Amino acid sequence: MTKRFKIAHIVGARPQFVKMALVIDAASGFKHIRSIIVHTGQHYDAGMSDVFFRDLRIPEPNYNLGVGSGSVVTQIAGMMSRLEKVLTKEAPDLIFVYGDTNSTLAGMLAAIRLNIPLAHVEAGLRSFNRAMPEETNRVMTDRVSDLLFCPTGTAVKNLRKEGVVKGVHLTGDVMLDMLAKYVPAARKSRVLKRLGLKRRGYYLATVHRAANTDDVKRLRSLLTIFGRLDKKVIFPVHPRTKKAMAKAGMVPSMNVVVIKPVPYIDMLALETNAAAILTDSGGVQKEAAFFCVPCVTLRGETEWVETVRSGWNVVAGVSEARIRRALARFTKHRPRTRTYAKTGGSAKKMLKIALRFLEAKG
Ligand code: UD1
Ligand code: UDP
Repeated sequence: MTKRFKIAHIVGARPQFVKMALVIDAASGFKHIRSIIVHTGQHYDAGMSDVFFRDLRIPEPNYNLGVGSGSVVTQIAGMMSRLEKVLTKEAPDLIFVYGDTNSTLAGMLAAIRLNIPLAHVEAGLRSFNRAMPEETNRVMTDRVSDLLFCPTGTAVKNLRKEGVVKGVHLTGDVMLDMLAKYVPAARKSRVLKRLGLKRRGYYLATVHRAANTDDVKRLRSLLTIFGRLDKKVIFPVHPRTKKAMAKAGMVPSMNVVVIKPVPYIDMLALETNAAAILTDSGGVQKEAAFFCVPCVTLRGETEWVETVRSGWNVVAGVSEARIRRALARFTKHRPRTRTYAKTGGSAKKMLKIALRFLEAKG
């Protein structure tokens, strides 16, 4: 008779709610798996957290550690000490961490120190830019994970080059499976009407990377560029960016429509209907390429090289000339690629592998 196993999912930031939603949903179909959700509290504004749990029908977290913002070290230390208590009490058989945030890192450290096996969802991604906090979070997590769920073949190759082969599985991308599931709901969204937008009549922009927000000159320059584009720019502003803009007294031009972070389904609707997307988000790049909407990445590199290969994503950094060239290129030449990645079954695959792993351990 198969034993019942407890899997603890540690999340804390917006993209992790999106990634976890499908895994939690799929887990409800496995009678030998019991899921518990531990929310570190890294993201806590209703529009950055609650709305995702509600709209994506994720059960309420079993624990919210309420760590909140602070210096990086204080934040990670706070997560770890609270995780220690919860994980000691719950004694899960396996921990799932997602992506590359500080919640991923704290979850990984707690798992390792408490001797709990670890599974990393979205393993093997590399920007090869060690100045990015997310890059070190990923590299460290991948070194010690028992199960590494890679979304792409490139991720598997990256791990192989680092000598990481044990426990590596190409499972597909939960974020893209999530997207495919919510496309019908996005078609019904009224967000365009609410904002008075026409299909392809606007650009969509998001900016939240430390490299773009913590450097006032860079952020100001991005806003200036947005203000000079030939279409309205819809700009759902991440709280980090909002604070940086307020601190520096930045007021974007009339062309830039500053709005609060939007719920996932509205975001998908804004993405599918945009003339182009300008972003430094990892998730938004993939979503743009998947929808075949031109994407200009406001960073010097990307982990999602397949999106670039598909032709739908151009890495342009923050130079106005490069951003304009990228937009002009899309106007002249539409890429032919239709689906840059296959979708379907990623969460189920991960859970089957996890169950096999747990059964083998006994
Ligand atoms: C984090 C992740 C990043 C991910 C992003 C998704 C790390 C190192 N970075 O960045 O990889 O792409 O989430 O959105 O973990 N804030 C609020 N309310 C909130 C959340 C944040 O006001 O609900 C403000 C606080 O001032 C905080 C700042 O935003 O200091 C940054 O938040 P934090 O969670 O540290 O990092 P993100 O920039 O969100
Ligand atoms: N997203 C959203 N509303 C927003 C901005 C982003 O629902 O206002 C979604 C987006 O569609 C994607 C995820 O959040 O699914 C990406 O998160 P984010 O850009 O914060 O983080 P990253 O992917 O860069 O780590």
